[in-house]
Amino acid sequence: MNNTLDQNLTLEGKKVLLRVDLNVPMQNGAITETSRIEKIIPTIKLLIEKKAKIIILSHIGRPKGKVITGMSLEPISKKLSSLLNKEVLFNKNTINENTLSEVNKISNGSIMMLENIRFNEGEELNDKEFSKKISNLGDIYVNDAFSVSHRSHASVEGITKYIPSYFGLQITDEINALKKITSEIKKPITLIIGGSKISTKIKIINNLIKKFNNIIIVGGMANTMLKHTGSKIGKSICENDCEHLIKEILENSTKYNCKITCPVDVIVSKNFEDTGVEKNIEAVNDDEMILDIGSKTISCINMIIAHSNTVLWNGPAGYFENPKFQNGTKKILEIIAQKTINDKIFSVAGGGETVAAINKFKKIDSFTFVSTAGGAFLEYLEGKTLPGIKALTQNV
Ligand code: 3PG
Repeated sequence: MNNTLDQNLTLEGKKVLLRVDLNVPMQNGAITETSRIEKIIPTIKLLIEKKAKIIILSHIGRPKGKVITGMSLEPISKKLSSLLNKEVLFNKNTINENTLSEVNKISNGSIMMLENIRFNEGEELNDKEFSKKISNLGDIYVNDAFSVSHRSHASVEGITKYIPSYFGLQITDEINALKKITSEIKKPITLIIGGSKISTKIKIINNLIKKFNNIIIVGGMANTMLKHTGSKIGKSICENDCEHLIKEILENSTKYNCKITCPVDVIVSKNFEDTGVEKNIEAVNDDEMILDIGSKTISCINMIIAHSNTVLWNGPAGYFENPKFQNGTKKILEIIAQKTINDKIFSVAGGGETVAAINKFKKIDSFTFVSTAGGAFLEYLEGKTLPGIKALTQNV
């Protein structure tokens, strides 16, 4: 990667559009996990040192081109400011005819964060005019958001066509680490996939089957599999209209000899306040939600991991943010951590929620590598060239 942000670039007085991923977990307006903010600090410090004018672009959530107050980046700009111990100006507006004059006012070495880029309709559409418009705000563009580089969005892909574009420090580290690991990992390979972002991930499973020996499906992902294979999941979250895809997943698992494992027992509750009850999957009632995996499922996961040389993990096993439903996620972490230490296997985890769980249970040092990325990490494992990375390589 010859267009990486480095010490040799002269950036004094230059406006640098820095795309980062500040899509951090939040609860009731408060940030619950800060890794993604901390990871971008080296790039920001380098830009400050070089006396660049730093304009931060990021998204949080999926507002779909609409302004949604609860998805403002303002609390995150405050957190970044306290971590840097430096003022971070916050521009509350969506991109408009005044944005250019507003960013032009900032001084060398200072930072302005723009409001959630996904509030603008053109962002997710990768709209040409919008891409040009944001490129006009700066002199150079830096992508330091590996975790969103699987999206062909304007601030990730489109913009690189109109402005000199560079890899940031964090994206470079992440690509190098994943490249090394994926070239060295040994079979049997087990992927544990969970979490609540079902719609994107379910499609990815079908491609990953060809590469792995075991896929363990937990969390919201498992509900979708269970529902479409005839199990009762009550009022649990799940994706509808997936029959065709699930049929294909099951056929491919036989064809490519990849064993798919879903929960056989679960922890259910009628609401988030009550204590959960452990049940076999057949016994889930219509008014119950599945909020964690049960003990038989944990034992089964333990057995599979015991016979694996590589474990990849994306997405928690349940609603781990609530201590009543954290057991499955915590146990999986402990099993992987122990196996990594004892048998020196490769263990790689990725994703916003997964990293939050790893930090909650203080296991960050027990993995071979922890990626900031979830969907991007899975697409990278599929062997895809991510559009954001391809764009930086092509449009130099
Ligand atoms: C993530 O959390 O994986 C990234 O921020 C991408 O978010 P998205 O799945 O909403 O595009």
